[in-house]
Amino acid sequence: MIGDRSERRASAGDDDLRKRLAVFGQEHLLAGWDSLSADMRQKLAEQIRGIDFARIERWLRSQTAQHDWAALARRAEPPPAVRLDGRGSPYTPEQARRRGEEMLRAGRVGVVLVAGGQGTRLGFDHPKGCYAIGPVSGASLFQILLEKVLAVRRRYGVSIPLYLMTSPATHEETLSFLEAHGRFGLPQSDVTVFCQGTMPAVDAATGKVLLGEDGCISLSPDGHGGMPAALRASGALDDLRRSGVEQLFYMQVDNPLVSVCDPEFIGYHVLAGSELSTQVVAKHNPLDRVGNVVSVDGQVRIIEYSDLPDDAAQQRQPDGSLKLWAGNIAVHVFSVELLRRASSGESELPFHLARKKVPYVDERGTLVEPAEPNAIKFERFIFDLLPMARQPLVVEVDEASCFAPVKNAPGAERDSPERVQAQMIALHRLWLEAAGARVAAGVAVEISPLFALDAEETRQKVNLKGEVIEPLYLRST
Ligand code: UD1
Repeated sequence: MIGDRSERRASAGDDDLRKRLAVFGQEHLLAGWDSLSADMRQKLAEQIRGIDFARIERWLRSQTAQHDWAALARRAEPPPAVRLDGRGSPYTPEQARRRGEEMLRAGRVGVVLVAGGQGTRLGFDHPKGCYAIGPVSGASLFQILLEKVLAVRRRYGVSIPLYLMTSPATHEETLSFLEAHGRFGLPQSDVTVFCQGTMPAVDAATGKVLLGEDGCISLSPDGHGGMPAALRASGALDDLRRSGVEQLFYMQVDNPLVSVCDPEFIGYHVLAGSELSTQVVAKHNPLDRVGNVVSVDGQVRIIEYSDLPDDAAQQRQPDGSLKLWAGNIAVHVFSVELLRRASSGESELPFHLARKKVPYVDERGTLVEPAEPNAIKFERFIFDLLPMARQPLVVEVDEASCFAPVKNAPGAERDSPERVQAQMIALHRLWLEAAGARVAAGVAVEISPLFALDAEETRQKVNLKGEVIEPLYLRST
């Protein structure tokens, strides 16, 4: 009897789904329905209910209306920016630092860390945050970043909520890793791990949603631009409003040098009345693989390196410097109000459509492994909020002390773990030297964020007059 009832429920649901799919010409998704187990049917039904087919149709139709990045890039100008020497702002670095520190002490700042990517380029089969990067300590990216948050909390005597975004592929393992390490000292009540949304891949020729090998739809993360919607769905935006947090410092999981909650940066952002500020470094070469922060028709926006035509990239100023000089290091401050608008549909982020090779199961149930890109994937980029933000602000920082991303596998020419470690050692060597130490050539040194966050704090804590001749890891708890 029980079996009968559930059979009836399944087929009633099945009819509903069929009708819903027929409107959009997507009935093929139920072709293998009869051979699916009850669990898989339930999963597929939930997936189908979660997909907004009307919007997908709209996005596909507007594909031709997508930005012509090459044309935009050719009209692009350097963005107005606060330069390293303080040019470009009516406020001094000292005024900015003081304002940022006031914001921090008053508990107005939280942190969001995006860690939903799968680290495919790094060749690491776990969430990238678990990757051991500390050159002496072997500390993971998560350890270094979370300890920086802890150190900032201690410095300003304040609670700083951390919102960590995962994706379905990284969620469970990230949770277990953080639990196993006691969230690196952060209190449970101040760490929220939330999972970003997903999008289906569609056949590039027909717009039909692709089915994976298990008979269900293969979904992939919707890009870091999924952050505002996922933050809202997790209830975090309401928590932020209740707790009086007005600004969120944003960082990616791949940069252990990020200056977490940099008070000067937060200060410039608040003094300018900005809703979205972004840190940049001066590019070394026209084709550096970073996003380009530019101004087009009076709007600040980011054009990815992959969308920047060579001729636009190569342009020079009369003094010989690069015209499009500002490289995106993916460190931002968002006003909570902007995230509220972005997640309520008032300022909707566009999708970037990327052609990719996606294996799929065809209507006869055969697995097809395409040799050429066959599918379109949809991703949102968080920095596309720039043109929607009030008073967007660009602030230049020093690359040697703020930016060393782990992107590629060991041995790669750029952005490899070895290069990042070498940059960490070089920076910490400078801090030690400023504190009076001599560090023998070739010796690895590393300073834990819990010991010191900068050269000044290192100087206050350590009085090293001798020579460091063995690898050194300075840490306090
Ligand atoms: C990114 C920027 C680039 C910038 C560079 C600096 C984009 C599109 N480009 O490049 O302009 O110069 O960083 O290092 O962002 N993530 C998610 N969910 C997703 C996708 C990504 O959380 O669905 C997270 C990743 O975990 C990572 C970050 O976003 O922390 C960046 O993603 P990644 O794809 O590695 O960006 P890049 O191409 O390296």
